Amino acid sequence: MINCKTMGKSFDIGLERLTGTGVPAIDAIQEGGVPVGNDAQGKKPPLQDGFATIRASTEQKNRTLKPEGCGTQAAEGATFYLETFGCQMNDHDSEKVAGVLLGRGYQQVETPEAAKVILYNTCSIREKAAQKVFSRLGELRPAEERSGEWRVTSGELGAEAREAQARVSFGSQGKPVLQKNAQPGMAVPREANHPSLRKIVNAAGGKIIGVLGCVAQQEGEEIFERAPWVSLVCGSASYRKLPQLIAELEAGNRRVTGLDTDTDETFETEITRRDNPWRAYLTIIEGCDKACSYCVVPFTRGPERSRASASILEEVRRLAESGYSEVQLLGQTVNSYADPSMRKMRFSELLAAVAEVSGIRRVRFTTSHPRDFGKDIVEVIEAHPNICDHVHLPVQSGSTTVLRAMARTYSREEYLEKIALMKAARRPISITTDMIVGFPGETEKDFEETLALLDEVQYDSVFAFKYSPRPNTPSLKMADAIPEEEKGRRLAILMDRQREIQRAQNEKLVGETFEVLVDGKSRRDNQWSGHTSSNRVMNFTSPERELLGDYVQVKVVSAMPNSLVGEMVGRA
Ligand code: 5AD
Ligand code: SF4
Repeated sequence: MINCKTMGKSFDIGLERLTGTGVPAIDAIQEGGVPVGNDAQGKKPPLQDGFATIRASTEQKNRTLKPEGCGTQAAEGATFYLETFGCQMNDHDSEKVAGVLLGRGYQQVETPEAAKVILYNTCSIREKAAQKVFSRLGELRPAEERSGEWRVTSGELGAEAREAQARVSFGSQGKPVLQKNAQPGMAVPREANHPSLRKIVNAAGGKIIGVLGCVAQQEGEEIFERAPWVSLVCGSASYRKLPQLIAELEAGNRRVTGLDTDTDETFETEITRRDNPWRAYLTIIEGCDKACSYCVVPFTRGPERSRASASILEEVRRLAESGYSEVQLLGQTVNSYADPSMRKMRFSELLAAVAEVSGIRRVRFTTSHPRDFGKDIVEVIEAHPNICDHVHLPVQSGSTTVLRAMARTYSREEYLEKIALMKAARRPISITTDMIVGFPGETEKDFEETLALLDEVQYDSVFAFKYSPRPNTPSLKMADAIPEEEKGRRLAILMDRQREIQRAQNEKLVGETFEVLVDGKSRRDNQWSGHTSSNRVMNFTSPERELLGDYVQVKVVSAMPNSLVGEMVGRA
């Protein structure tokens, strides 16, 4: 076992000063793990015109993260391609997966074609997200299979595949028969369908293809059936096994799985490759115990496991030393955090301790569950100006009847009590939420209660989704499904109403000045972009030559439903 303990720091630094163009619109993580915008298709929020997300280029990532003095188990020139679907939790898991691979001497590449190892970190919160993964896997179907014929080749076969090759040949009907003299180069009809044969075909392709994340956990070994060219299936609840699984693949094993959920461990790696140059993500609690009736997360991410407070604080200190000034604490239900160590810190105490780390200018956390949201969290926000004034508190529905059917554990009134705590805070707290329309049995009256809740709470942003029936979930069997068309109609009405609320909310901010962390630069001269503490997107003008990563003061001159427009008035 190679000790990479000293590498954490060198892997985390060096990305702060990267330049690039652009910024995404508000990117809240949603409970259940999917960052999706409030548009009818459930895509991410639209980017601002002329802006794009700033991410380190692959070349920069590899350069910055070049392992020092850590043994490389991977073969010379080994490369990986990693694509991530879904939420910020998945984004951050991918950062850790990349860290594991880089630590083994792999280099990241930008296309699947250029990679020896191809990994998809997947999302299954709604059906569309899961389908996307299988369409990606379809693109990787080996040419041999597409042309209707598989060919046994000797290629770069691992030990197990070589052995399988010796055991398989094909009878007159084209069916695989176990015997000792299968020859490389032998053509095989497509309908041949034997696991050993598939191993050979996979090996001949010469690539390792892996499915990670929620689809992996949900579909398990079925994935090998649907896409036999896949060789690694590992759910997010088993990521702690990933280094070992990768080592098994390197040793020539062609099919490995990590599908346990009965774990009390979290996925902590010694090396995390961080993609966002300014905002560092930190998972403090994994999994979910809440069992909402529509949600796959408890199945795909397993039970709640919290990370020890001392280890979290140590990582925050290292991040601050490395130059990160903003940290975002992550969890499907972040405020259900339960410190497993003797210190037994409450979530609000942890928030305070993170905020007190020298060098940390902004602390965010997402996603909060209403059941565990109490006054102590509001008080800690009030007491620490560097805890951002934004809370994402998913409600899902404004109707107590629907909330009960969803098993959300609170009523409309109880939820509104939590909102009242925030509205009474000494400084304004921006509130955002998630909503589902068209849950089975949702009547027109229920839906109207949801619309009325929008008016009452005045959210700063809403991520709205059409209900999507998911495997294994209790709501799958509920009566009174709402037709797709009707779900679409309700979603459009909700979004129209919310757009007007946001326009009015944002217009009230014209003339005010906010601190902005600059994270985007437009292609147009003097145009910059960043986020306020409330996580609003601010596009602004400034004649300065270099502002990326800086904190500046910006005065709002006009407002749009999803962003503010301003001009820089000074440094923060
Ligand atoms: N259908 C539609 N939306 C869902 N969400 C979770 N599960 C489903 C589902 N089956 C939404 C919830 C959650 C967000 C991340 O995704 O609003 O908060
Ligand atoms: Fe959130 Fe409920 Fe899903 Fe847990 S089960 S992630 S609380 S929506």
